[in-house]
Amino acid sequence: MAPVADPSLEKLEAIIKETLASTSDPKLKEKLTRAQELVNTASIRSKGVLNKFALDGQVAVVTGGGQGIGRSIAHALGEAGAKVAIADLDLSRAETVAAELESKGISSLAIKVDVSKKQECEEMVQKILSKFGDLHIGVNNAGIVMNSDSEDTSEREWTTTMAVNLNGAFYCCQAEAKHMLKKGYGRIINTASMSAIVVNHPQKQVAYNASKAAVVQMTRTLGTEWCDRGVTVNSISPGYTDTELTRAEKLVTLRNMWSNDTPMKRLADVEDLVGGVLYFTSQLANFTTGFNLVMDGGFTCW
Ligand SMILES: NC(=O)c1ccc[n+]([C@@H]2O[C@H](COP(=O)([O-])OP(=O)(O)OC[C@H]3O[C@@H](n4cnc5c(N)ncnc54)[C@H](O)[C@@H]3O)[C@@H](O)[C@H]2O)c1
Repeated sequence: MAPVADPSLEKLEAIIKETLASTSDPKLKEKLTRAQELVNTASIRSKGVLNKFALDGQVAVVTGGGQGIGRSIAHALGEAGAKVAIADLDLSRAETVAAELESKGISSLAIKVDVSKKQECEEMVQKILSKFGDLHIGVNNAGIVMNSDSEDTSEREWTTTMAVNLNGAFYCCQAEAKHMLKKGYGRIINTASMSAIVVNHPQKQVAYNASKAAVVQMTRTLGTEWCDRGVTVNSISPGYTDTELTRAEKLVTLRNMWSNDTPMKRLADVEDLVGGVLYFTSQLANFTTGFNLVMDGGFTCW
């Protein structure tokens, strides 16, 4: 029998061996031999490549985790073994998602935060450290979008968009990294957008596009600055995704246009995006930093 890595599998293997040795019942022997084969398979898996995605013992935070893409990422990180803090401007949304995770047996914490305020981002990290004692993964995902013709874009639209999408991502990176750099380990993932590299149309969104392009370049900068001290920084850039952000009644015509403009002829489901985050948090991404992973159903290829 192949050596087993998981202690519970080792115990199970010992029980099977002992019972096999002590029984002469042919039916029981047959069943135990089958059980032994299953333990072997589980043993190979527990040491195999999929195990490198496991996040057991790690602590994560997802900003904007109260709905949409952030909620889906929070569930995925929790299912991979992490304890997950849900940080959102809307506390009740964060509490709902935290309760969803707890009902699956995943330790969670709901935090109210406005990421555009540096002090609140620092307090968010302190709350996580008080509850869980550590922080290994930061997913800085909170974001907003507004639309206007560029010549009419108000100062308020510009500054608010930058404050949440760019300043917010930076303040979170900074607050998370201060702890992670001390510990010598951290995985930071920022949610950018394909709007960082293509100009969306027909809707006009200069502030959003500029903010997301800045998030990508900030990610590249931080990703090179902190990686030799154990902290990688990467970003995901989703294409049009089916969330509250894109589900409004007035967007129905646009949604059809966006689907048609996408080689896969559909919007992303939130679950389509979690693989990118799980890759960046896994041991398989140990040599990956400053990278922007575009997940857009082929949109930016056309
Ligand atoms: N939906 C898309 O098509 C799409 C495409 C590409 C990128 N993105 C990006 O993905 C991220 C998530 O998008 P989504 O579609 O899930 O959005 P969403 O609007 O469904 O959810 C965003 C969440 O962020 C929270 N939030 C907003 N402002 C905040 C603030 N100042 N501080 C803390 N939390 C705040 C909201 O309360 C909400 O729960 C955003 O950064 C967005 O720009 C979305």
